[in-house]
Amino acid sequence: MKVLVVGSGGREHALAWKLLQSKQVEQVVCVPGNGGTASLERCENLALAVDDFEGISRYSLQNNISLVVVGPEVPLAKGITDYLQNKGLMVFGPTRAGAQIEASKAWAKALMQEAKIPTAKGAVFTEAKAAKSYVKSQGAPIVVKADGLAAGKGVTVAATVEQAQAAIDAIFQGQFGSAGEFVVIEECLTGQEVSVLALTDGLTIRPLLPAQDHKRIGEGDTGDNTGGMGAYAPAPIATPQIMECVQKEVLEKAIAILKTKNIDYRGILYAGLMIAPDGNFKVLEFNCRFGDPETQVILPLLETPLEELMIACVQQRLGDMPPIAWKGGASATVVAAAGGYPGAYEKGKVITGIEQALSAGTNVFHAGTKLLTQQVVTDGGRVLNVTGIGENFDRAIASAYAGIKCIHFEGMYYRRDIGHRVMGNGGMGNG
Ligand SMILES: Nc1ncnc2c1ncn2[C@@H]1O[C@H](COP(=O)(O)OP(=O)(O)O)[C@@H](O)[C@H]1O
Ligand SMILES: [Mg+2]
Repeated sequence: MKVLVVGSGGREHALAWKLLQSKQVEQVVCVPGNGGTASLERCENLALAVDDFEGISRYSLQNNISLVVVGPEVPLAKGITDYLQNKGLMVFGPTRAGAQIEASKAWAKALMQEAKIPTAKGAVFTEAKAAKSYVKSQGAPIVVKADGLAAGKGVTVAATVEQAQAAIDAIFQGQFGSAGEFVVIEECLTGQEVSVLALTDGLTIRPLLPAQDHKRIGEGDTGDNTGGMGAYAPAPIATPQIMECVQKEVLEKAIAILKTKNIDYRGILYAGLMIAPDGNFKVLEFNCRFGDPETQVILPLLETPLEELMIACVQQRLGDMPPIAWKGGASATVVAAAGGYPGAYEKGKVITGIEQALSAGTNVFHAGTKLLTQQVVTDGGRVLNVTGIGENFDRAIASAYAGIKCIHFEGMYYRRDIGHRVMGNGGMGNG
C-alpha cells in the first residue's frame, strides 16, 4: 500500500521511516516533507502545503493512497480529516471536532472538569478584568494560557502576579490571534512532565511507551522554551502503577466523555502530565497528534507494524488487536539546532556527517532540512534529531551522542545533558 504523511518535521520523518519498515507499505509520500524524507528509500516529497486539502485529496485519489497520516495539529484543527474522509479517503487523525481537545485549552479544561479527569485547578475568562482579579485572589506562582493554537508560545508560568497580569493583557490584546478570546488560568503544579501518547479508535484506547522531553534550550533545563531539544523513552517515572492509573483516570475517561459529545475520536490522544514527587499526577494539556520529539524515541522501540495499528484505529478494530509489542531497552534522541534558535537563526548551512552517524548505528531524523542537488542544508531552527537505542538508558544516550558527534554544520548547537534524569538508570526492561 501507499501511505501519505502530512507534515515536514522530525516526527514525520520518523513516521515515514517506521511505516516503510512494514512489509505492507511499498511507498510513502510526504507533504511537504524535508531533506530526510526526500533521502529515504521508497519515499518522496510532494510540494503542497499541509492545509491544501484539495491538493492533498486530488493527489491521494489519483495515486491510490490507502492511508493518510496527519502529523501536525494545524491541519487537524482546520478539519483535514473531515475533508479527506468526505472524499472517501482513510485518514489517521481526529476530525476537527476532536482536534478541539488541543486547539482550545478552554474547551479541553471544561471537558476535563466534566469528566473528572485530574487536572490543575483553574478557570476560564473572556475578559481581562475578571482574569486579573482572579489572579490577584489566587496569588503567584500561577499559570496563564492563551486559548488556541499558539505554536508553544501561549503559556506563561508566572512567578509574580504582575507577570501573570502582563500575560493576560498580551493575550487579550491579540498577541496570539484568535487564541486571544479566552484565557485559562490555573494553579502552578510542580513535578516532572511526562508525555503519554495513546492510540484510540474511539472505543478502545491503548498507551504507547511514556516519554519525557527537554523543552528548554539550555543545559540543566534552563533558558528559553523550545519545540523540544531531546527526549527519551520509556520514562521510568511513569511506573506501571501510574500508567494503570493514567489509563483509567485519564485516557478512558477522555474517550468516554468525547463519546457523550458525539465526537468519534480516532487517532492519537496525547496527554501531557505533571507527576508530583508523591506519584500523584494531573493533566496539563491534551494534544491531538504525535509529539515531536517524543515520536522520534517511541517509534524506534515499536515492534508492531505501525500501519496495522493505524488502520485498526481508523476501522475501529483496535480492541481486536494483540497487545502492542515493544523492543526491550531504551531510546534517546538529541536535537541539533541552528545557532540562535529559539531566537533568530540562519538557514542554508551545509550539513555533513549524516552517513557516518547512520553507519554508527543511530537514526537521523531530519526536521528543518532541505535536500539540494547533492547536499542536505539546514532549513529551520530544529535541524535534525539523532536517536540511539540500547539495552539501557546509558547505552541509548551514549549512542545518540556518538551519532551527533559525526554531524556538523555552521553554528550547530545541541544540549550535552539529554537524559540527565535517567543516566545510571538501568532502563525499564519493558520487553
Ligand atoms: N499548571 C501548570 N503548572 C506548571 N507548569 C505548567 C502548567 N501548565 C503548563 N505548564 C508548563 O508550560 C508548558 C506549556 O504548557 P502546555 O499546557 O503544555 O501548553 P502548550 O504545549 O500548548 O504550550 C508545559 O509543558 C509546562 O512546562
Ligand atoms: Mg505542551
